[in-house]
Amino acid sequence: MSSKEYFDEVAPRWDEMREGFFSDAARQKAISVAEVRPGRVAADIGAGSGYVTQGLVQQGLSVIAVDQSEAMLDATRSKLSHLDSIDYRVGQAESLPIADQAVDYVFANMYLHHVESPPNAIAEMVRILKPGGRVVITDMDEHTFEFLRTEQHDRWLGFKRQDVERWLLEAGLAQVATDCVGEDCCAQSELGAGSARVSIFVAHGDKVAVSCVADGTEDMRSDCT
Ligand SMILES: C[S@@+](CC[C@H](N)C(=O)[O-])C[C@H]1O[C@@H](n2cnc3c(N)ncnc32)[C@H](O)[C@@H]1O
Repeated sequence: MSSKEYFDEVAPRWDEMREGFFSDAARQKAISVAEVRPGRVAADIGAGSGYVTQGLVQQGLSVIAVDQSEAMLDATRSKLSHLDSIDYRVGQAESLPIADQAVDYVFANMYLHHVESPPNAIAEMVRILKPGGRVVITDMDEHTFEFLRTEQHDRWLGFKRQDVERWLLEAGLAQVATDCVGEDCCAQSELGAGSARVSIFVAHGDKVAVSCVADGTEDMRSDCT
């Protein structure tokens, strides 16, 4: 079974599964680290059933929700169909269906450990980010729970924070840092392989902006003239 087939299959029950894995702390921490401003545009990459997307819309942002799984995006649509500030796009990590420099923020929650090449996935996130924008990644610290690979299609058993920081820097971001979310991701093997408890980190970095002076006020914008 491919990763896409796995997520297509679990899409109808993903919200319930996710609630068992981690609480709202990861989303709250990601949104607070991003320092989001209402009216701006965010991309939620590996959006799944819309956990982060929903939080961002509640903060007044427009969101482009990208996922390889149409079934996952359908799960979001069925919950949030009353909102017109979400743009749903099926796409892959290596070629996100978003133009260069189109969004103010990129979020990726519990997505990076599923992609084939984390550095390439991060480079794609940076490509779609406007100058002055911020990437925020929440994911698991490095661990040894093999059953997450075999049962939940994880490709990577979490990450060393210094590797994620290096990939963000190599992709051209500045002000790169990682921090603890203060929350663990918990999972129980369905095949008797035990249970996992893994700490969650938040990593972020900024795309260097043009600095402008408008009306005597210095601002960080991407569209300075
Ligand atoms: C563990 S789920 C997390 C979903 C959501 N971010 C959340 O926090 O609930 C990972 C999501 O990433 C998507 N995904 C995995 N690999 C992908 C890839 N290579 N390209 C696009 N989406 C991918 C999956 O389809 C799935 O919806």
